[in-house]
Amino acid sequence: MVCYIGVNEILRNEDVEQKLQTRLTEMLGIEHPILLAPMDLVSGGKLAAAVTSAGGLGLIGGGYGNLDWMNTEFEEAGNQAVGVGFITWSLLQQPGLLEQTLKLNPKVLMLSFGDGTEAVEKAKEAGVPTLWQVQRLEQAKAAIAAGVDIIVVQGQEGGGHGMDRGLTALLPAVRDLAGPEQVIVAAGGIADGRGLAAALMLGADGVMMGTRFWASKEAIGSEKAKQLLVETKGDDTVRSKVFDVTRGLDWPWHFTGRVVSNDFAKKWHSEIEALKQDAENQRAVYEASDPNDYATRVLIAGEALDLIDTIESAEQIVEKTVSQAAELLKSSAGALVA
Ligand SMILES: Cc1cc2nc3c(=O)[nH]c(=O)nc-3n(C[C@H](O)[C@H](O)[C@H](O)COP(=O)(O)O)c2cc1C
Repeated sequence: MVCYIGVNEILRNEDVEQKLQTRLTEMLGIEHPILLAPMDLVSGGKLAAAVTSAGGLGLIGGGYGNLDWMNTEFEEAGNQAVGVGFITWSLLQQPGLLEQTLKLNPKVLMLSFGDGTEAVEKAKEAGVPTLWQVQRLEQAKAAIAAGVDIIVVQGQEGGGHGMDRGLTALLPAVRDLAGPEQVIVAAGGIADGRGLAAALMLGADGVMMGTRFWASKEAIGSEKAKQLLVETKGDDTVRSKVFDVTRGLDWPWHFTGRVVSNDFAKKWHSEIEALKQDAENQRAVYEASDPNDYATRVLIAGEALDLIDTIESAEQIVEKTVSQAAELLKSSAGALVA
């Protein structure tokens, strides 16, 4: 059963012209079928609010779960409606964190990487719609069984953690599994209107973008990091366990993270067992490095780097993506012979 948020709940921006109407825009009461990915320490209140103000919906990156940080970022979002997303296995290790977060009145709660069943139940009790990011059909089945409102199907192209399936076959397969009524969002490698239009054709009702919004004016991050996002390309990225092992993050083994491959990653990527043995020393090396030394420090980003040439405002990104998708969808009818 789909649970629709009252359209009045999200502050509509009267200046934003609606070009695409989907089940996602209807369900969330937003103008454009574009969501900001809840990127840990990158998607702060300012970026989330800017995406909502532009007609999409911004999600604050709750990441591993730091309530003080989230309090600050929800304040930063001001009176714009924003959601929040967590790394599920980490959320589950912190009793009470979900309840505290629900008191911040998020517009949606997103769960990624782990069993979100209990969190979906608690969010439902609090009247907060839920998203569950999946990388496998089996996970989609679990999300459906839990009664999630929106399934986010993530392809391996995406920046950050995920698994190894590409979006092109997985997305329509989840649509076939979930049926026509389920609201589905595509994530992974989408950074412009071509990706949005293609995702709609493959069975999605909208898209979630991470890497594209990371390279935005409002994202939390240094100028150096953002400049590198413009200079590096999809070929420079790799799915790896290097930075999780180094940082001592207890990720379930089937998840890898797509990052820009740097000197540190190149040294250890094929030597994970050796890295594990030397993890303490390597963590010390990593932590002693300058936070802006991206030969050592992790720069999380996905294959969509190929499509990013400039740091833009969230509003420009949303506007361009929607306009390009609308144009493509209109003009593609011209390919029909009869
Ligand atoms: C810098 C960065 C940090 C991320 N952190 C998180 C996170 O904390 N939680 C989460 O669910 N997904 C996270 N992701 C993954 C996104 O949810 C999403 O699947 C991905 O960004 C989509 O692919 P794209 O980067 O090609 O747009 C992160 C992605 C990036 C680029």
